[in-house]
Amino acid sequence: MQSYLVTGANRGIGLEFCRQLAARNEEIFAVCRTSSDELAALDVTVYDGIDVNDPVALEPLALELDCIDIDVLIHNAGSYERADWDELDEEAFAAAERMFRTNALGPLRLTRAFRDNLYENSKIAIITSLMGSMTDNGSGGSYGYRMSKAAVNAAGVSLARDLASRTISVGMLHPGMVATDMTGGRGISVEESVRGLLARIEELGPENTGRFWHQDGRELPW
Ligand SMILES: NC(=O)c1ccc[n+]([C@@H]2O[C@H](COP(=O)([O-])OP(=O)(O)OC[C@H]3O[C@@H](n4cnc5c(N)ncnc54)[C@H](OP(=O)(O)O)[C@@H]3O)[C@@H](O)[C@H]2O)c1
Repeated sequence: MQSYLVTGANRGIGLEFCRQLAARNEEIFAVCRTSSDELAALDVTVYDGIDVNDPVALEPLALELDCIDIDVLIHNAGSYERADWDELDEEAFAAAERMFRTNALGPLRLTRAFRDNLYENSKIAIITSLMGSMTDNGSGGSYGYRMSKAAVNAAGVSLARDLASRTISVGMLHPGMVATDMTGGRGISVEESVRGLLARIEELGPENTGRFWHQDGRELPW
């Protein structure tokens, strides 16, 4: 049995991580702002009231998990607010700041909060997006979201370098376009996406730390 901490566990991809991991009898710390009936029905330990932007909310959780080893830290919580070229008003800039805090600083802040729970061979999976890739950006737009995911990719590479001496590996993982609230239900199923993501986490180790993968196994360009 391995221990997993999953953020954004109440719905979407995070909930499906909890479902598939619970079916494997793993130990799951399910972190969210507000729990859901679906999450409560699973054999997981739920920690709600946790906004990944809020250092004050993270403190009691870090204390509660003090001395507990985390094998895999899954940074899944994320938000998307569309803002294209002709929509860049002050509200779009405010939305970009919110996304930067949640999507880029959130994973870094949590990794820092749980640094002593990670140990030799622990893994960190950052659920990022191909929309953070410069090379893949053929359509423009989505300024704040693209910037926030590029920023978390940069943070993930630095974490991979800084934690390598502790044999902690970091993977940046794109889930595909997945049918969740974020996409208005368009895309592949959460079941398929999370099966792939868990396979990539399985393969993650010191030999491939700090790289960017599609859930289907393809390595992605920055
Ligand atoms: N769906 C896709 O096609 C797709 C593609 C590429 C990447 N991704 C990434 O995959 C991850 C999961 O996305 P999803 O499709 O499952 O989205 P979703 O259905 O919209 O779920 C987002 C999750 O993140 C949580 N969250 C958002 N802001 C948070 C905050 N400040 N603090 C704590 N939790 C917060 C939400 O909690 P609440 O319920 O409290 O709002 C929810 O649990 C995200 O990082 C997203 O960027 C998704």
